[in-house]
Order: sequence, then structure tokens, then C-alpha cells
Amino acid sequence: MKHRHDTVVILDFGAINSQATAKVIRSLEVFCEVLPFSASAERIAALAPKAIVLQRGRACGAATIGVDPAADTAAFGVPVLDLMDKTCDAATLRPFLFEQCAVKPDWTTESFIEDAIRDIRETVGNRKVLLAMSGGVDSSVCAVLAHQAVGEQLTCVFVDHGLMRKDEPQEVCSVFRDHFGIALRHIESEARFLEKLTGVIDPERKRKIIGEEFIRVFEEEARTAGEPDYLVQGTIYPDIIESGGDGGKPVKAHHNVGGLPKHIDFKGLVEPLKYLFKDEVRQVALALGIPRSIAMRQPFPGPGLGVRCIGELTKEKLDILREADAIFRAAVVESGLENQANQYFAVLTGNRSVGITNDARTYAYTVALRAVKTSDFMTARFVKLPMDLLETISESITSHVPQVNRVVYDITSKPPSTIEWE
Ligand code: XMP
Repeated sequence: MKHRHDTVVILDFGAINSQATAKVIRSLEVFCEVLPFSASAERIAALAPKAIVLQRGRACGAATIGVDPAADTAAFGVPVLDLMDKTCDAATLRPFLFEQCAVKPDWTTESFIEDAIRDIRETVGNRKVLLAMSGGVDSSVCAVLAHQAVGEQLTCVFVDHGLMRKDEPQEVCSVFRDHFGIALRHIESEARFLEKLTGVIDPERKRKIIGEEFIRVFEEEARTAGEPDYLVQGTIYPDIIESGGDGGKPVKAHHNVGGLPKHIDFKGLVEPLKYLFKDEVRQVALALGIPRSIAMRQPFPGPGLGVRCIGELTKEKLDILREADAIFRAAVVESGLENQANQYFAVLTGNRSVGITNDARTYAYTVALRAVKTSDFMTARFVKLPMDLLETISESITSHVPQVNRVVYDITSKPPSTIEWE
């Protein structure tokens, strides 16, 4: 794809706004990549950039660097724009890109789709491909692209661990089978997961068991499908930019659906979304005709409701959580406040307390509601949902879900909390 479009390289000197600048350039239909400032001359040259943008950060002492555009341009052989530590807007970038550098704006959602389908076809040839469908936007877009590229050479596996939200498995199956004609294999594994999780209350152990069991089921399905040569993964651009990482210790063991199984030898990985930001993936999803409910779906963790149902996981508790969560999410959408939060969901706390219903004492669960606003999911602020809305939701949950007699709202930001409860 890179060589089909004029490319701009952003050299990131540890600035916080490199990705924001990349999004502005891409909004002008120009493909651009973010590379660390330490990228070798060969790596930069391999992209054959038409222009280079320097994005410096305060952390690297932007204020103390003297700027010499002529020297920079001579060093790179193409025009250089030094943004220091500012995010550039489209108005400033247009003359630089289109007049000074004569960059051709031809990187659009439609051209991306065409390129991606062609690339998958070229890579895969007549071999077989496997994909783990999670129901999220990334794997959904991958599935549709791969299916359009190689049709029945694609095996699409949906490992349903029984930790999905209300009606989600049915929706995923109906969209991909009925609407897109993809032969999605729905592997109903709820009993198997719950059995492994019996008696387990430690959050990290729960995550580990869910992740391992997921891979085991997926491997079995790969064998059934004749051990395909390629695995399609929904890796997106921020994962690539950030994979350099700081090597710090993760707070939680993240289990990503579609994580590479260790015991299957694939000839290679197909990662059609690896140059896209999340917003761009959503645009591609809509352009492909994927319904809004999936295209705009809020992030949902790989271990699913397993990290939102505190303590031991049982079908009974998960069903209670599914009902309460569905009521909460529907009410937020109905109130029109959906875009105020990046994630909003219910948690079944392990707590039970005394209440009263129809003059009779109850001893029932406490549900916590959480809604957060965040730009990078590394930090987040709780959303101040209107009290009236919270009151309506509380009444609705306690009247429709008899196992719940108390509803609380989580008013903690990240840090010190995390977004998920476990
Ligand atoms: P925390 O709870 O760490 O969550 O503040 C940050 C973001 O990551 C999501 N999350 C996960 N996503 N696999 C995933 O794919 C996981 O195991 C996982 N755990 C948390 C969480 O929903 C939030 O968006």
C-alpha cells in the first residue's frame, strides 16, 4: 500500500501529539506514517516519503533545539516541516503538502479498501486463511475484507466463551452469516469456560484461564479447518507505534482475542488494519456496510464480562449482569449521551446487601455503573451522567432484575482506578 500512495513521514521526538498530527494529515487524504526519531536513514528511505514532518516534544527539550529547515531538507533530500511541539492544523499543512511538496491526495477509505483486498489476495494466493472473530470492529472489518479477497479460503471462527453481552453472539452470527454470507463458525464454549473457572476468584487467574482456554479452543478449530497457512489479525496502527513501548510492567494481563496461538505454525500473518487508527477502521467498517452497532461499538475486553463480574463466575451471575448492563447501555443511547463516554457498562459487584421489595426483606446483589471518557485508555475520567438519568436506570434495573436491590455509580477516574474492575 505504501508505494501506491504519496507518503509523508512524521519523525516523533517523543511528542504526545504525533498521532494527532498524523490524523490531520490523513484527513487530507494523504497517507502518513509515524516513525521514532531514531529510525535509520534506510527505514525512512524505504518509505520514499515526499515530505517529512518533525514533531518534537517538550520531553526532548524542544525549546532548546535550534531549527534549520534548509539543513534538515538537505539531510533528508525532501522538504521538512518542523512543528516543534505543536499539533498542526489542516490550514497550515495544506500549502506545505500540496504546494511545496506536490503531494497527491489519493488515500481515501475507498482506496484503502481496494488496496487491502488486493494485498490480501496477493499474499494469500490460493492458500487457506484463519480468522478469530470477536464481534468487535477490528475483527469484523478484517473478516469482510478477507472474505472479499479470498472468499471460501477463509475460515472465520467465533469462540463464544459465554462472557459476551446480551444478544451479542446472535447479532454477530446473523450479521456475518446472513448479511455478508461468511461461513462463520460459532463455537459455543460457555460450559467449557465456566467449568475451568469454577471456584476461581483471583482476577489475574481468571484472565489467564480465559486467555489460555481461548487459544486452546481456537487451536482445535484450526486443526478442524486443516491448519490454514495464514492467520488474519486485527492489529491497528497505535499497537504498532506503541509496541516499542517502555518495557514497563503491565497492570493487567491483557488477553486480546485473536492473540497468536503458540502451537500452530502459520506461514504468515495478514494484518490489513495495521496502518489504520481506530476512527479510520470505523469509517472503513461503515463503508463496507457493517451495521453501526458493530462499526461504532465501544471497546470490549477480550475476557469479556469475566472482568466485570466480580469473584467467581457462574452462569446465574453472568445472566444477571447481562440484563443490568443491557438496561444501562440502552438508556444511555436513548438519552442521546452515548458520545459523552468512550466506554459505559455495568459491573456485578461481589457485594450483596439487605433491601426491601413489596414489604419483604431481600438480600441481593449490588450493581455498579461505570462510564468513562478517555482519549488513550491509559488515563480516563468518570463521566458526570445526569442524576435523573441515573435514577431512571436504577429504577429500571431493580424492577426488571429481581436479583439486584442496589445500584451505585462509580465516580473514580483512572488513575487511581482502572477502567475495568478486574
Ligand atoms: P483498564 O481496565 O486496564 O482498561 O483501565 C483499559 C482498556 O483496555 C480494555 N481492556 C482489555 N482489552 N483485552 C482487551 O482486548 C483485555 O484483556 C483487556 N482488559 C482491559 C478495557 O476495556 C479498556 O478499554
